[in-house]
Amino acid sequence: MELVLDRLTKQYKNKIAVDRLSMTLKPGVYGLLGANGAGKTTLMRMICGILKPTGGEVRFNGMGVSSEGFRDVLGYLPQEFGYYPGFTARDFLCYMGTLKGLPKRTAKQKAAELLEEVSLSQVSDNKIKTLSGGMKQRLGIAQALLNNPQVLILDEPTAGLDPKERIRFRNMISGLGKDRIVLLSTHIVSDVEHIAGEILVMKSGQLIQKGCMEDIIKIIENKVWECTVDNNLAEKLTESLLVSNFRQEGDHVFLRLVCDQSPCESAILAAATLEDLYLYYFSEETINE
Ligand SMILES: Nc1ncnc2c1ncn2[C@@H]1O[C@H](COP(=O)(O)OP(=O)(O)O)[C@@H](O)[C@H]1O
Ligand SMILES: [Mg+2]
Repeated sequence: MELVLDRLTKQYKNKIAVDRLSMTLKPGVYGLLGANGAGKTTLMRMICGILKPTGGEVRFNGMGVSSEGFRDVLGYLPQEFGYYPGFTARDFLCYMGTLKGLPKRTAKQKAAELLEEVSLSQVSDNKIKTLSGGMKQRLGIAQALLNNPQVLILDEPTAGLDPKERIRFRNMISGLGKDRIVLLSTHIVSDVEHIAGEILVMKSGQLIQKGCMEDIIKIIENKVWECTVDNNLAEKLTESLLVSNFRQEGDHVFLRLVCDQSPCESAILAAATLEDLYLYYFSEETINE
């Protein structure tokens, strides 16, 4: 099973949102990390066949994504998802199932199974408008799973989840990646840190990094420093360097900095994290709002 992106490009009037992006995805969980405006949604909509590329193509096992066959193996959770607030969770899933072409009985059965799988059985007959953010998000995922898709595309599925819901969501996704291609986008570092086997870093329409967590962090190995300095020096250092952490400790300041060379005499190298890497790449852009 493979999903191939071949020089995929989308140009809006004078803006190239996705720029000759090529890669091959195999079963597993891929975390697409990028700041707002990086091109994540545009990329995903092209993969799903909703948006026509201006260049290049997407193929799944050799077939084009606009073909009928691809619809049947695709599950998609859009970034903005309408939830039919007056429907119950169960009715909504049955309805979506029939829209996807399942016979009524199958849709009903599948809905019950999925409600169980995303731990919503308890609230399955409650109206959607009464569910929490995390519950709605899990319902959105259940909807994307109705046709037992081989390719699952989730656009910012953790936006608006509280930490507990986020953990629950991650655990669910890990399981889904066992025999499917799961691509999920986020601008929240900790999401991909914990669930993605492979991390894709996207900036200005291009993939600038790709690999497992250990590999991509190597880029900033020997570039993360920690030191405790007086206020004057702290002010000087933070003016010119990337600050990953700043903590006032009495009359001194603890600093964690990302820079090529030792920032001051007392600085020692620290183990890099994905958050440091994100800062390194996206410091000039919006960081987790
Ligand atoms: N319909 C559109 N027309 C013009 N520009 C667009 C359109 N949709 C997105 N863009 C631009 O393309 C870039 C990528 O957007 P998007 O794919 O939504 O990024 P992300 O999902 O990473 O935030 C942004 O600069 C955005 O303003
Ligand atoms: Mg987006």
